[in-house]
Parts: sequence; C-alpha cells; structure tokens
Amino acid sequence: MKKLVFATNNQHKTEEIRAALEGKYEVLNLEDIGCLVDIPETADTFEGNATLKSSYVVEHFNLDCFADDSGLEVEALNNEPGVYSARYSGSRDSLDNINMVLEKLEGNPNRKARFKTVISLMQDGRNHIFEGVINGTIRTALSGSKGFGYDPIFQPDGYEITFAEMDMAQKNKISHRAIALKKMLDFLKGI
Ligand code: IMP
Repeated sequence: MKKLVFATNNQHKTEEIRAALEGKYEVLNLEDIGCLVDIPETADTFEGNATLKSSYVVEHFNLDCFADDSGLEVEALNNEPGVYSARYSGSRDSLDNINMVLEKLEGNPNRKARFKTVISLMQDGRNHIFEGVINGTIRTALSGSKGFGYDPIFQPDGYEITFAEMDMAQKNKISHRAIALKKMLDFLKGI
C-alpha cells in the first residue's frame, strides 16, 4: 500500500485520517517516520505554511505528505490574527489571544470573521491545495467551554451558539478543517 504522511504530532487527528483512508493509503504521522524537528512555519499565508511542512517531509523523507494550517481571519482587523492565530497576543494562551481580538474590536460594529484551513498535499512531486472556510461573527463576550482557541467568541453563520457551545461532533461536521479535509479525501479516493 502507498504510504502517505500527515505532518502532525496529533495522534487523534492521525487516527481520523487513517480510518478515512483505510485500505487505500498507509497513513503515518511525524512520530511514525521519526521526524522529531519542529518544522518552521515562517510563511505569511496559510498555504505557505502548510506547504513548508509538507515539502519538508518530501525533501527529508522522500514520502508523499500532506499538512494543514488554520486560523481566524477578522474582517475589521485586516484579516488578523490569520497565520498568527496561535500566538496573537505574544503568548500561546487562548484567553490572552481572545482578549486581544475583543480589545481590538471594541466598539466596532463590523464583527465579521471566518475560520480558514488550508491543506497542502504533496503527491508525486505536485502540490495540491485544498481550502475550507466557515463564516461567522465575533461575539462581544465569551460563551461556552468546549473546543479550543477562539471557539468561545466565534458564532458560525446560521447558528445562535458559539463553536464552544457546540458538541464536538456538530462542530466537526461544519468546521473549516472538516471542509478542507473532505475535499482532500474526495480527491484521494478519486471521487
Ligand atoms: P492550527 O494551524 O490548526 O494549529 O491552528 C492555529 C491556531 O488557529 C490555533 O492555535 C487556534 O488559535 C486557531 N484555530 C484554528 N482552528 C481553530 C478552531 O477550530 N477553533 C478555534 N481556534 C482555531
């Protein structure tokens, strides 16, 4: 069976993809291939960072690979925090990062935002890009305790609750990550 690396250290994410591609690809993660370095994410776009990660594995391990990069884009903040989502406030603390967004948006009536995921799949020397977007608004205060990152302030369009108030199963059906992944899986399965 053809090997396919998922450039992640997250075991849960790996199992999910492994199950989805069972019988078609042998899915390995960074630990499985002995890639212990923290691959630098120094690009200024999601696509750039995802491609940095997938290309690193292709170059150093000579295996096909895909990688994802995600973040929050707030319209009134010129699409910040974007690629800086994980450390917008200077720290990796989600609450600090949420407060930074809320402060910058204080009094601003434009609350439009979106979560975006970009996947780079390097297969047979070609880079295939898949994108997932979910539009929504930024609440003025936190609500809910599920999920992670900016979930407590993000209300997806068509819902009255935030991502942090949704069951994981419900969020995973509609999220930016789910949309991008489905596109890649359909491609890999030849749908
Ligand atoms: P990653 O590229 O998936 O690691 O995401 C980078 C950062 O974007 C995370 O550390 C979060 O701050 C933010 N982010 C990405 N996806 C989500 C999400 O589904 N909910 C909340 N925050 C997210």
